[in-house]
Amino acid sequence: MRKPMIAGNWKMNKNRDEALQFIYNVNQEVPGKEFVDTVIASQDPVLRDLVKRQGDNLRIAAQNMHEKTEGAFTGETSAELLENLGVAYVIIGHSERRAYYNESDASVNKKLHQAFRYGLTPILCVGESLETREAGETDMFVKGQIKEALKGLGSEQVKELVIAYEPIWAIGTGKTASADQANETIGVIRESVSALYDASVSDMTRILYGGSVKPANIDELIAKEDIDGALVGGASLDPKSFLTLVEAAAPKK
Ligand code: PGA
Repeated sequence: MRKPMIAGNWKMNKNRDEALQFIYNVNQEVPGKEFVDTVIASQDPVLRDLVKRQGDNLRIAAQNMHEKTEGAFTGETSAELLENLGVAYVIIGHSERRAYYNESDASVNKKLHQAFRYGLTPILCVGESLETREAGETDMFVKGQIKEALKGLGSEQVKELVIAYEPIWAIGTGKTASADQANETIGVIRESVSALYDASVSDMTRILYGGSVKPANIDELIAKEDIDGALVGGASLDPKSFLTLVEAAAPKK
């Protein structure tokens, strides 16, 4: 029912030549968009270059945006500009943004509203620290993040929204949550969306897993009922490895 998605998050990697080369390499190979949504999130200055060269089955995302429409916010990028550039998705509330740039649940909520206002599909990131997991407070923590992030959003928006569950302790560390752990917390996230809206909404919302996803573990993750795909950092930088992930997520014809 829910179409799988693989979203590559390049973070602050790849110069223009490398970014374009990657797109040329994968464009022809990406499975059809009727099977899987394939997304690449790049640094802002090359977004337009990539949008112009994206094939039919690939869409480009920004890694962040500002919550306000315009104004004196040096160094920031607006949702309106992303829309102008032809960007389809925007990652909101990545744990690196929350940790290094003090992004709060309240600003994440404003950004979600602003993204929808400009026709961008947000990929909302949530996830707990190792400390929170070890204290047995993961479920409560992610439920709180979801509740704050979704405030004021309508059912149709939440159906379109993509959520990425990314335990902070699994990002870039080589430690993947086990497929069971990931599926269990994603189930908790789906239940909390259902409690805030209803099951007809939470059945539609795609929830990805993120944190050291790679070709060696994608099959096990994607086989889980509640895991609709992956948000991938390190393993999205190499075209071959990225394509392996996308192919693994595309339902077998
Ligand atoms: P990783 O990053 O795949 O390199 O762990 C995931 C992310 O931060 O989105």
